Amino acid sequence: MRLECIGCGNIFPLAEIRYTCDCGNLLSVERDAIAVGRDVFDARRASRKPIDQSGVWRFREGVLDVDDVVTHPEGSTRLYERGGIFFKHEGENPTGSFKDRGMTVAMTQAKRLGARAVACASTGNTSASLAAYAAQAGLRAIVFIPAGKVAAGKLAQTLAYGATALSVRGDFDDAMRLVREACDKLGIYLVNSINPFRIEGQKTIVWELLQDLEWNAPDWIVVPAGNLGNTSAFGKALREAFAAGWIDRMPRLAAIQAVGANPFYRAFAESFAQRHKVQAETVASAIRIGDPVSYEKAVASIRATNGVVEQVSDEELMAAKHEIDRMGIGCEPASATTLAGVRKLRAAGTMRDGERIVCVLTGHILKDPDAILKTVSTIEIEPTIEAVGKALG
Ligand code: F0G
Repeated sequence: MRLECIGCGNIFPLAEIRYTCDCGNLLSVERDAIAVGRDVFDARRASRKPIDQSGVWRFREGVLDVDDVVTHPEGSTRLYERGGIFFKHEGENPTGSFKDRGMTVAMTQAKRLGARAVACASTGNTSASLAAYAAQAGLRAIVFIPAGKVAAGKLAQTLAYGATALSVRGDFDDAMRLVREACDKLGIYLVNSINPFRIEGQKTIVWELLQDLEWNAPDWIVVPAGNLGNTSAFGKALREAFAAGWIDRMPRLAAIQAVGANPFYRAFAESFAQRHKVQAETVASAIRIGDPVSYEKAVASIRATNGVVEQVSDEELMAAKHEIDRMGIGCEPASATTLAGVRKLRAAGTMRDGERIVCVLTGHILKDPDAILKTVSTIEIEPTIEAVGKALG
């Protein structure tokens, strides 16, 4: 295994602490063919060992083949079918978001490298995940969050797990720039998805959902798109699954952005002629990101899967969230971009009737309670049976 530049192809050893090439491009963890078959993964799924129970480490030959891992365990999330659409609920991970899948790998690598402190910039889920895994690994956790812009559940979790939280007067993109500089100058290990080991863990969302479907590839995999770590990871996961013969055809990726935070959508609309930056604003605070770091890798994912990028308004994504909540599943606002995106892509004829679609729900319903309590409320009554009767109509 090696670190390989996605631009110039330069190669670095796995043990080197670096996130980008000297040419400025992102690095990717690359390996020769993954020589393990689906039967091995299926057998491990029935095993009681924590490393096999983890929906990340079950696929270890394609992630990072080490014995000593920092695992909760994570993954092994449910796949729901509702109204003819599948929902892979990554909010069922230990800290309530898909980030745990990347974090278990990044934290394992941090320990292997002898890091003392780990850091990230975050809209809240990465920071909660980092804080939990750092607590388990015994490392100092430092998170850079946009001041006043992180949902209550995420902020509370991050602090409860014991992270030092720096509230940056600026937006996520400012926090991201700052944490990169801080990690370079202060010798802290950076575990944002610019860290290629995070991507290796997040690939297992796709591998596990393929396994859930008994390796029958769906037509579409739909994912919210913010900093573009997941979009990057999903394309890599599909390329590798196809190359290893685990699936016999490629699903198409649909990456969905919020209208107010749509730099990737804008680039897609111009056939990726140029990279865009925006001043991001959306109710889906998880993806309030204007200058995504994994842009180049995400472009490769869309191209390799004949994928599409769509945008949905705050009204559309909140309506979809309401629907998902009322199914009894629930998710945070950013996750609901998926269902809103499906509705739009179906209306446009891009997605057709009868196609099998998997929406990836990235975060738990309780991550952002304020988004819910703005729209619904209790009925306050006097403690009398008459009041009950009146309230229930
Ligand atoms: N959904 C949720 C719930 C998220 O928290 C994020 C990203 C995304 C989707 C977008 O994924 O960045 O891989 O394109 N959250 C990051 C964080 C930015 O800091 O928690 P992406």
